[in-house]
Amino acid sequence: MRVRPHSPLPSASVRSAAERRELLKAVYDEARECVRCPLHQTRTTVVFGNGNANADLMFVGEAPGANEDRMGLPFVGQAGKLLDRLLEEIGMARKDVFVANTLKCRPPDNRDPHPNEIEACRDYLDRQIELIEPVMICTLGNFATKLLRGDTTGISRLHGREELRVIGPRAVRLYPLYHPAAALYTPATLEALRSDFHRIPELLALGAPDQPEQAEAVPELEEQDALPELKEPVAVAAEAATAQLGLF
Ligand code: URA
Repeated sequence: MRVRPHSPLPSASVRSAAERRELLKAVYDEARECVRCPLHQTRTTVVFGNGNANADLMFVGEAPGANEDRMGLPFVGQAGKLLDRLLEEIGMARKDVFVANTLKCRPPDNRDPHPNEIEACRDYLDRQIELIEPVMICTLGNFATKLLRGDTTGISRLHGREELRVIGPRAVRLYPLYHPAAALYTPATLEALRSDFHRIPELLALGAPDQPEQAEAVPELEEQDALPELKEPVAVAAEAATAQLGLF
């Protein structure tokens, strides 16, 4: 699903869906070799994110858990099942959205991300956002919300309050939501998450916000680079690698 914007987009949006995918694959190839923070020593797999590289709607969670670390895919455990259910309730599915995390590697024992890890990983998320060019980003929980808003206001004050934010070169509608994991065992949080979630279609229908003026260089795809071979990530099934690149 791609909602056509109301306003002209900057030059980056001349990228075709295929170019977007290939550029994203290049970032993935880089991320899966990443040693920028100590989490590379304990991870099984880099969980880059998955879904539709051409999506209008992007979700940003916290960090992979044990299931995600094993499978190489984001939100595959109980929290992911809840995310799937909420998407279904609004007539959407994973194939319509792109799902990523603040951290691409699992913190040991699912502890909170450390500031140095968030800082080291930020560039991957920025590049994902820049390439996917979402119209709207739902941050799931405190870590993604604080990172993308650049302040420390917590999710309980911000959930369900959409705002326009410029992230990198793009203006997006930022929509903080409770993290699905927080809603699993707390009925009031689930109720709030569900009610906020059900407003997503109406917010998406507003289309893309006006974009900041800028001269942006669009990386050219060389003919020979246009369709790189997928390399297999460590010990992950081929279909997981394809799914990581998102391309339903
Ligand atoms: N929680 C997250 O924030 N991300 C995942 O991928 C899974 C659980």
